[in-house]
Amino acid sequence: MDKWIDIDLLEKYPEATDSMISEALDMCMEQVKNNLPAFEEHFPAANSEGNFYTPGINTDWTSGFWTGEVWLSYENAKNEKDKELFETAGKKQVDSFLERINIRHYIDHHDMGFLYIPSCVAAYSLICYENAKEAAIKAADQLCSRYRPEGKYIQAWGEMWARDNARLIIDCMLNVPLLYRASELTKDEHYAEIAKNHIITTMKYIIRDDDSTWHTIFFDPDTGEFSHGATCQGYKDASAWARGQAWGIYGTAIAYKNTGDKEYIKYFERVSKYFLKHLPTDLCPYWDLSFGDGDENEQPRDSSSAAIAVCGFLEMSKYLDEESRAYYTSVAKKIMYSLIENYQVKDKSISNGQLLHGTYAKKTPYNTCKNSGVDECVIWGDYFFMEALTRLSRPDWKMYW
Ligand code: GLY
Repeated sequence: MDKWIDIDLLEKYPEATDSMISEALDMCMEQVKNNLPAFEEHFPAANSEGNFYTPGINTDWTSGFWTGEVWLSYENAKNEKDKELFETAGKKQVDSFLERINIRHYIDHHDMGFLYIPSCVAAYSLICYENAKEAAIKAADQLCSRYRPEGKYIQAWGEMWARDNARLIIDCMLNVPLLYRASELTKDEHYAEIAKNHIITTMKYIIRDDDSTWHTIFFDPDTGEFSHGATCQGYKDASAWARGQAWGIYGTAIAYKNTGDKEYIKYFERVSKYFLKHLPTDLCPYWDLSFGDGDENEQPRDSSSAAIAVCGFLEMSKYLDEESRAYYTSVAKKIMYSLIENYQVKDKSISNGQLLHGTYAKKTPYNTCKNSGVDECVIWGDYFFMEALTRLSRPDWKMYW
């Protein structure tokens, strides 16, 4: 058995049809509705346990994804009663995000975009809710406070300026769009300037010669010079963590949309090709792209990486020539066929999530992780699955990122 798909044979896979997509999206919205009583005032944990999320407070880096599911449901609702239900819940959650930034509860990190884009940027763009605008701008200010001018990047994780913390991670490509939105909202270009510098620094170092990506790049804490690449959540430093590669795909697509710099199309094509070449036969990656079908000690998948990559393919396909657009749209629909058929939750008695078989973090002898959310639903996987379905059912969808 081949370990990965033969990329040239991708064409033999079926695409998700319009009716599959529409049914799948309806199912997701039903699940969001089922979850509102438990999660209107609370937030699901980052990952499920035994495929069920438990409610908690707005504290982790992941809370925004659930609110994003609520706003996607609002946008796609089929009747006024449901729309009202989702709007009421979404506004309550936005208020919680405003309080979080005001009282500075767990905000000393780089994840301001993951928190404030699908919640507050979405809310302001959909219903012009002023609390959402205030929260988004304050979150953008917080993100700017993590900028390190000596190396021109936003510091990932941990106490600012600590000598061991001079590093960026590929995930942050999805946080910096908050700065572009803040520039639009305030007409102050300094946010966009920081975003641009961070993206340039990331792209300079994060893609390896074989087109796989590092998770983390370390810098000299004094001079800001490149030091070395490493991983935190991948199998080992030199392997390609599947979600990191997926953040790279969507991140370069959004970077192109925000800057119009054609270099990002080239980066997108490189990281996409590597991702696609390392998919197993059902088109849903193992959690690290070094694993494939038939490997000893079968490894868990990370379905969230597939959903994130699909959103990237669909975003970038808007800006490509006809042939490339057709290719990436088709690839996106093929991956979605598999996600809908094999990974979507279709029975609320087995899970209160949307997408099974995600992996948050898996411990290995070579990384610093502990096992969490291995082969579980992960809340960003649920969100990006719904975003991908929304994109496919409404190609004119105005993205939140
Ligand atoms: N941004 C953290 C993760 O993807 O797990």
